[in-house]
Amino acid sequence: MKDAAPSTPQAVRLEDYTPWSHVVDRVQLTFRLDPRATRVISRLSLEPNPAGPQGRRMFLHGEGLTLIRASIDGRAVTPDLTPDGLYCDVPEGPFTWECEVEIAPEGNTALEGLYMSNGMYCTQCEAEGFRKITYYPDRPDVMAPFDVRVESAMPVLLSNGNPGATGTLADGTPWVEWHDPWPKPSYLFALVAGDLRAHSDRFTTASDRDVALNIWVRPGDEDRCAYAMDALKRSMAWDEQVYGREYDLDVFNIVAVDDFNMGAMENKGLNIFNSKYVLASPQTATDRDYELIEGIIAHEYFHNWTGNRITCRDWFQLCLKEGLTVFRDQQFSGDQRSVPVKRIEDVLQLRARQFREDNGPLAHPVRPSSYIEINNFYTATVYEKGAEVIGMLKLLVGDAQYAEALALYFDRHDGDAATIEDWLAVFEDVTKRDLRQFSRWYTQAGTPRLSVEETFDAGTYTLRFRQRTPPTPGQAEKLPQVIPIAVGLLAPDGSEVVPTTVLEMTQEEQSFSFDGLAARPVPSLLRGFSAPVILDRASDAAERAFLLAHDTDAFNRWEAGRSLAKEVLLRMVGDNAPPSADYLAALDQVLADDTLDPAFRALVLQLPSEDDIAQSLHDNGTTPDPTAIHIARDALAHAQAEALAPKLPALFDAMTRPGPYTPDAEAAGCRALRHIALSLLTRLDGGDRAAQEFDRADNMTEELGALGLLIRAGRGTDPVARFAERWGHDRLVMDKWFQLQVNMAPPEQAVTRAETLAQRPDFDWKNPNKFRALIGGLAANAAGFHDPSGAGYRFVGEWLSRLDKVNPQTTARMTTVFETWPRYDADRQDMIRETLTRIANTPDLSRDTAEMVSRILG
Ligand code: PHE
Ligand code: ZN
Repeated sequence: MKDAAPSTPQAVRLEDYTPWSHVVDRVQLTFRLDPRATRVISRLSLEPNPAGPQGRRMFLHGEGLTLIRASIDGRAVTPDLTPDGLYCDVPEGPFTWECEVEIAPEGNTALEGLYMSNGMYCTQCEAEGFRKITYYPDRPDVMAPFDVRVESAMPVLLSNGNPGATGTLADGTPWVEWHDPWPKPSYLFALVAGDLRAHSDRFTTASDRDVALNIWVRPGDEDRCAYAMDALKRSMAWDEQVYGREYDLDVFNIVAVDDFNMGAMENKGLNIFNSKYVLASPQTATDRDYELIEGIIAHEYFHNWTGNRITCRDWFQLCLKEGLTVFRDQQFSGDQRSVPVKRIEDVLQLRARQFREDNGPLAHPVRPSSYIEINNFYTATVYEKGAEVIGMLKLLVGDAQYAEALALYFDRHDGDAATIEDWLAVFEDVTKRDLRQFSRWYTQAGTPRLSVEETFDAGTYTLRFRQRTPPTPGQAEKLPQVIPIAVGLLAPDGSEVVPTTVLEMTQEEQSFSFDGLAARPVPSLLRGFSAPVILDRASDAAERAFLLAHDTDAFNRWEAGRSLAKEVLLRMVGDNAPPSADYLAALDQVLADDTLDPAFRALVLQLPSEDDIAQSLHDNGTTPDPTAIHIARDALAHAQAEALAPKLPALFDAMTRPGPYTPDAEAAGCRALRHIALSLLTRLDGGDRAAQEFDRADNMTEELGALGLLIRAGRGTDPVARFAERWGHDRLVMDKWFQLQVNMAPPEQAVTRAETLAQRPDFDWKNPNKFRALIGGLAANAAGFHDPSGAGYRFVGEWLSRLDKVNPQTTARMTTVFETWPRYDADRQDMIRETLTRIANTPDLSRDTAEMVSRILG
């Protein structure tokens, strides 16, 4: 089996979907755990699927399994093994399939299937990991109740569902049983065994179910679970209040593991988390960490209904669960914190990751129609753009009809493996709208560009919009999409003359008029970022400054400041223009406005990223020079510091709050603004104040913030060493240390810094968090990564080739650091292509990485 030739990668196509030949009525699994020789016995109750292909043969997926025995209705059978599974002749009616396989979790470095992390056993089955555990119809449309028995001397043995009997084998090995009554696909299966400690609590659901909550961690980490537990309870209450969704088992377990390819996983009743998204204390976690923990705990919990109770028919429907669950977790975080601040953060993230993807060689629709390796489609497009599409739908149909449609969705599809068509049909049935044009958001790739012209004549103000979506790989022509454009109009005195109105654009070109206006208004377009499009609008700095000062829509207020900063930067890069005085004056006003939320003010002061500027230059037909961008951005930050200097010390003091650290949004907002003040002050005092801050900080947000500024100021050597002394024992904190040093390093030193750090014995590169911290940290230092020598590309390329041998999924995901190559000059393009070609030629390259590299090269 192990020596079988690898199957040649073949594209899977949406149009080829066929149901499975059989139905699984029940699954019984027994695990006898052993690091090198785990035995898995699987017994499946099967019957022919009337809706599937008829026949007397069945196919089960299986990868890297050693088959010990197989039987049907108790009689031994000899299936035909293939590189990706087995075929077996089966009886006509219902029957019982049983097989025993052996697997070796200890050697599983890919972290898919059953693997080990720091001595504990854990699983990751989404998307297609269950086939590395046993032979099974490993596809999401096959749903069944699971009974699991785990035999092991490990003190804590967990699986999905509710706990059942426990006992001891004749040889003294303890066993436990778990029963999950809710039919589920195999990708939601989970098993954990280890020496774990629980942080426990309880939750009573609206219908009075008493649920035991446990967060399981390694001994010593128990005191870092309180925030995650609090976030879990708030998520449970929120989903009841806002979506009417209750939890449906007697226990909800969360386990933190150190080696994990992604953020977390929504396995039924047994969520498994990357430990960085669970563990937090003020001393070890930053405000950003707390925010991410809250969001991800909510995300995985919300999957219980959007993903688990209603799952996906096939992996093309991934956005059905992910887009909706991201949308729900964004709503939750907005409610818990600040709606406008959350929206700004989400849009920043969308533009940085999804727009970047959509405008490069990896662009694909929210619902792709073919893939080679599904792991490569857990993308910003499926997740974040998938969530935007739901936000647009909600805006178009209104809150009340959205709520009705969701209620119908849960009602109609509970227990189903559903499709995007099912999802849209629910909205069509509730609203009587025709959503065929809207559905293009799921099938057309690329970010639509929206341009606008305006006229004012005899009290009538007309906006004429034009939409155009550039070609993307495999899609040359695009049809017009439905674009909800939220608009408000302001009078010259700053008062709002037309409150937010949603214009529904369906044509390629379309006009909308507003009558009875006394004077030409200033438009506030795409309020709240009502659609994931790029708005091209020529407007002068004075108008942007006006909106920054007066817009009633907080998002657009921020957006006005943002586009102002971007224009200033683009002119600084292109024409060496001096920083604009208007922009600095506008910032000065915002900074001093105590009526504005500090978190909001911090966002207004933050400059666009270097990557963002590079993309804009490219969009305008200019080849970006990463070094010039870095210099211009630095110069603008310096100009900010000088212009705001008189106010900075007082602002810094005003944002310094007495008392111990608390992770709430309000306190975090003050720290964010305070950090920006410190960052600007550091540009003026060379780092004296940051050095004091580093010494006095009693929480990781401030300690790490000050450390980064000292590195940037060239005063990092001593504090970097002290930080390592203080935190050398803490793997999560040390990830930050690795990351920060390359991320904040002056560009010309970044690659050398990364090379030196990669030599350290504590650079445990097989741990995905560490790899992402250092290698990803370098790629995030745009000017350092794109160093004209090409050293950054070579360094990252060599590490990716090495990691591919042990962990294809994380390697493939990280090849996206090269997706922007078409933006750059011929020399850089050549060097990047050379690096990618070298990766492509790595012997035995994984199918994951092979697919990515070939798509990026185009
Ligand atoms: N389904 C997980 C989530 O979005 C992400 C994930 C995908 C985790 C694949 C592991 C593997 O919550
Ligand atoms: Zn998810």
